[in-house]
Amino acid sequence: MKIAPSVLTADFSNLKKELKSIENADYLHLDIMDGHFVPNISFGPAIAKEIEKNTELLLDVHLMVTDPFNWVEKFVFPKTKFITIHTEANKVSETISLIKKHQIGVGLSIKPATPVRDLLPYIKDAALVLVMTVEPGFGGQSFIMSSLDKVKDLVIIRKEMKLDFVIEVDGGINLETIALCRDAGVDIAVAGSYLFNQKDRIQGILSLR
Ligand code: DX5
Ligand code: ZN
Repeated sequence: MKIAPSVLTADFSNLKKELKSIENADYLHLDIMDGHFVPNISFGPAIAKEIEKNTELLLDVHLMVTDPFNWVEKFVFPKTKFITIHTEANKVSETISLIKKHQIGVGLSIKPATPVRDLLPYIKDAALVLVMTVEPGFGGQSFIMSSLDKVKDLVIIRKEMKLDFVIEVDGGINLETIALCRDAGVDIAVAGSYLFNQKDRIQGILSLR
C-alpha cells in the first residue's frame, strides 16, 4: 500500500518540520478547496508552491473545486505527479485534456453519493481514480464503509477494460480501515488526521503501509 499524507491537518506554522516528519511517504496529497464545491476553504497555489519547494515527495493534487479548468495550470509544478478533479465538477472533459497537455497524471474522483458509473465516460484517461471515503471538505471524519464496494467494482472494471489506473481512497484512514482498503484492492491511501496525530509519523507511515 502506498501512503499519501494530506497536509490539511498539519501545523502550518511549522510547515518545514511537518513535511520533514513524513518524508518516507510515497506521495504528498494536497487538498485544494474553493468554498463552493465543498463548504470549506483550504489553501491555494502560493502555499502549494511553498510546500513543493520544501519536500522531495511527488505531489498528488486533489482539486475539490467547482471549476477545475481555471485552476489546473496553477498547480503544475515540477513535482506534480497527479492532478485529480471530481466528475461532479464543471467541464470535466476539457479539464482532463488540459491536465494531459501538461503531461501530468489525470486523477478522477467521486463523492460518496456519486456512483462508479459516472466515472465510465472518462475512465480510459485516468491514471488514478480517487474514491472519497468521507464527504469531502474536512479532515477527521469517519470512514464510510460502503465505499469499499466502489473500490471492488473499480478493480473489476480495470481488469475488464484492461486499464492501469491506480485506486486511491481519501478520508477516515487509520490502521483498521486501511486493512479493509487493502483487502478491497486499494493502491494508495490518503492519511490526514490519523497520521498527523502520531508523535512518530515515520513509524506511523510504516505501520499504515
Ligand atoms: C477531505 C480531504 C481529505 C482529508 C483526509 O476533504 O480530501 O484528504 O483531509 O483527512 P482524514 O484522514 O483526517 O480523514
Ligand atoms: Zn483529498
